[in-house]
Amino acid sequence: DLLNQDNYLVNGELKKWEGQTSAVFSTISSTEEYAPTILGSIPFMGEKEGLEAVEAADLAYNNGQGLWPTMRVKDRIKCMSSFVRQMETTREEVVKYLMWEIGKSLGDSQKEFDRTVEYIYDTIEDYKKLDRDSAKFIKSQGVNAMVRRGPLGVVLCLGPYNYPLNETFALLIPALIMGNTVVFKPAKHGVLLISPLLEAFRNSFPAGVINIVYGRGREVASPIMKSGKVAVLALIGNSKSAIALQDQHPNKNRLRLILGLEAKNPAIILADADLDLAIQECISGTLSFNGQRCTALKILYVHEDIVEEFNKRYAAKVDALVFGNPWEKGVSLTPLPEKGKPAYIQELIDDAVSKGAKVINEKGGEHSPNYIFPAVLYPINKEMRVYNEEQFGPVVPILSFKDIQEPLNDMAESNYGQQVSLFGKDIKTIAPLIDTLVNLVCRVNLNSSCQRGPDIYPFTGRKDSAVGTLSIHDALRSFSIRTFVASKDN
Ligand code: G3H
Repeated sequence: DLLNQDNYLVNGELKKWEGQTSAVFSTISSTEEYAPTILGSIPFMGEKEGLEAVEAADLAYNNGQGLWPTMRVKDRIKCMSSFVRQMETTREEVVKYLMWEIGKSLGDSQKEFDRTVEYIYDTIEDYKKLDRDSAKFIKSQGVNAMVRRGPLGVVLCLGPYNYPLNETFALLIPALIMGNTVVFKPAKHGVLLISPLLEAFRNSFPAGVINIVYGRGREVASPIMKSGKVAVLALIGNSKSAIALQDQHPNKNRLRLILGLEAKNPAIILADADLDLAIQECISGTLSFNGQRCTALKILYVHEDIVEEFNKRYAAKVDALVFGNPWEKGVSLTPLPEKGKPAYIQELIDDAVSKGAKVINEKGGEHSPNYIFPAVLYPINKEMRVYNEEQFGPVVPILSFKDIQEPLNDMAESNYGQQVSLFGKDIKTIAPLIDTLVNLVCRVNLNSSCQRGPDIYPFTGRKDSAVGTLSIHDALRSFSIRTFVASKDN
């Protein structure tokens, strides 16, 4: 049966979408042929629905003593707790949609769901602590101040397709619990999986606190920004969309940004590295969820003394990975939800090969209609597109280096600065390197691949990789401001 998502949530009401322009979309395979299949349809909303949603959020925030921002902490917690309890009952259905819509394997889909539920419970606990610690009296120079954290206003929240639940909720949940109101637009691949949660949102929060619309950014999100009612743009995705949306706001100075953007995380494998460990970590680092993670390792720097051995063993391990549908046992490579992705990855391969690289694994580049088998490319140079672009898919560029200064210089020149993985044993070499690396990126992973979690750790980046910091702890602060009431001793 076709799955048609036609309910959207505005001002506490589940509305039926009756627009003419509903887009049928196709994504992962549901057949043995691994060919894209039509799953159903999703609405493409426009200005009318965008404005309806932002006006509802604005009203819920600003109507005199807005019910939500001034609600007692314990009552806001009650709403959030009720939401997460209802959400837990949707596990099976949401996991099914994660597999169908974005092609995430069964195990990873279950992990994403469970991680999100845990994230919400942990946020509630951290929020209680934050409220206890931040609501205090300060006295200085005859002035008494009662300090507490307050919300910022209406948040426009745009989630990514690769973690449509976990990463999106890492924006949505802290924004809500701090007393902000939200307009949320899921990514195109990630609309169906919100359906089982719509009722839970509607039942748990007062009208207008959370509003959910669907469609293309330029059609539904632009009018929301142009309305001037948005206080925070919270987006995980690409900088092009983030910049375009910021530019629409009539008063950019009033806009707070919380952005998770592109990255090109390198792994640096030193000559004395434990090769088994480095290869194992680089396999998951480069190719888990087909490389469609902002935290994926997107370029490998291997010391020239070990590059031959590394390449041979790494390439063999890549070829041993099993491709199939997400629900099949033992599968780690799955169909790609973005229609144009296999062709894009092929372009990167062709470009690199035409400039002197080789595909060093046997299966590299094998095609099915909605997949391309990971290609390992060596040697890479700076003229190649795969060196310069965030591939966000199954292609792995490898460079060799003689002097550690070579990868360090490349990282210093890069537009990105999220994380790095460093593999080596000699602490005398590693220790000074760490001091340099932490000033180039925000997280150095020793003898392990890059990752966002555990969710209590700060998740951010330098340069074009991020604005603001996410983690359970940091996000509560990012979505709020310290306010205080002052009185004089007299
Ligand atoms: O796309 C970027 C995600 O934040 C990656 O998260 O490291 O938990 O897979 P992860």
